[in-house]
Amino acid sequence: MLRGGYLFYEVGRRAAAFAAEHPDAELIRMGIGDVTRPLVPAVIEALHKAVDDMSRAETFHGYGPDFGYDFLREAILRRDYAARGVSLDLDEIFVSDGAKCDVGNIQELFSSDAVVAVMDPVYPVYVDTNVMSGRSGRFDEQKGGYERIVYMPCRAENGFVPELPKERADVLYLCFPNNPTGMTLSKEHLKRFVDYARQSGALLLYDSAYESYISDPAMPHSIYEIEGAKECAVEFRSMSKTAGFTGTRCAYTVVPKAISARDTLGNTVRLRDLWARRVSTKFNGVSYITQRGAAAAYSKIGNEQVLAVVADYMENARIIREGLQQAGYTVYGGVNAPYIWLKVPHGDSWKFFDELLSGYHIIGTPGAGFGSAGEGYLRMTAFATRENTIRAMERIKRGSV
Ligand code: MLT
Repeated sequence: MLRGGYLFYEVGRRAAAFAAEHPDAELIRMGIGDVTRPLVPAVIEALHKAVDDMSRAETFHGYGPDFGYDFLREAILRRDYAARGVSLDLDEIFVSDGAKCDVGNIQELFSSDAVVAVMDPVYPVYVDTNVMSGRSGRFDEQKGGYERIVYMPCRAENGFVPELPKERADVLYLCFPNNPTGMTLSKEHLKRFVDYARQSGALLLYDSAYESYISDPAMPHSIYEIEGAKECAVEFRSMSKTAGFTGTRCAYTVVPKAISARDTLGNTVRLRDLWARRVSTKFNGVSYITQRGAAAAYSKIGNEQVLAVVADYMENARIIREGLQQAGYTVYGGVNAPYIWLKVPHGDSWKFFDELLSGYHIIGTPGAGFGSAGEGYLRMTAFATRENTIRAMERIKRGSV
């Protein structure tokens, strides 16, 4: 049984209740990672043009290809992979309406007794979708997690880097740059996970929705930069934070053909084919208009424009990091990711969430909502407007609204 509500729903509910009681409060939203900058001009232009295409019989589009238009998949292959020395085939790319949906849906391919391992703190979707499908067992208060889920704690003491699981795990979810801690994983460390998966036959689910926020050239953007990863890792990417598509919806998942799985009869099957079967059964694709807009973000000019927006958010991250440090807080992340992980002085993250809301009218996300190892932290996002980011830090440094 799922405990409580979905984290961001609960944060929104508390913020709405506070706003209703304090109608004059100017709330600054640094909770859910939702973008505030508009779509870039190259994307807007492509969207308009695509709308016009839909108005004429000769250029009208009905159902699109199940796994995405080639014009978008080719752009993805070129800019996200070939440019980093990674070769993939077009039929290994599946365009979708969101990385959240894909990371939530992929567990449908696994048997009900598959053992899942997650980092703790963790993006709640990985855990909650496995709970919904009956794979987790009950919540164990003493363990601070579900009975049948293996947790890989990421705390300040281990640099927020997960250790390999000691117990058997069939499926491991990894997210780098990490949501919520904002930390990254080096190639050497990622290689340990790839080697582990190849030796044990486990599958890695690698969520790299925030890869465009990496500034350190030594950090891997894709798990396929690690040798052998194509045999054991699925990668999830999103246009949401990269190109401001949280409301427009476009993402993609890479399932290499080299990953094999065993079906219930013991036959060896390609995971890619299972995913293709699921997608074509349950999904009718992302709209032509949206995919045209997404492809424009991969053009030379479009890419320059989206990277400028990313750089702008990362300037917010710097302002938050330094502002919080000046106010005496210990912070992590915010260098290769749009999330700042603040250590709560008294150690109670929901209490601190309430204090921030009532004392400063700022909405964060309590670390405990991401798992028991997140207790004692609070996450802030760099996606607010520049003006609000500066105002929020002024409030915190001043000690009042
Ligand atoms: C977050 O705040 O963690 C993300 O915005 C959630 C999401 O991408 O679904």
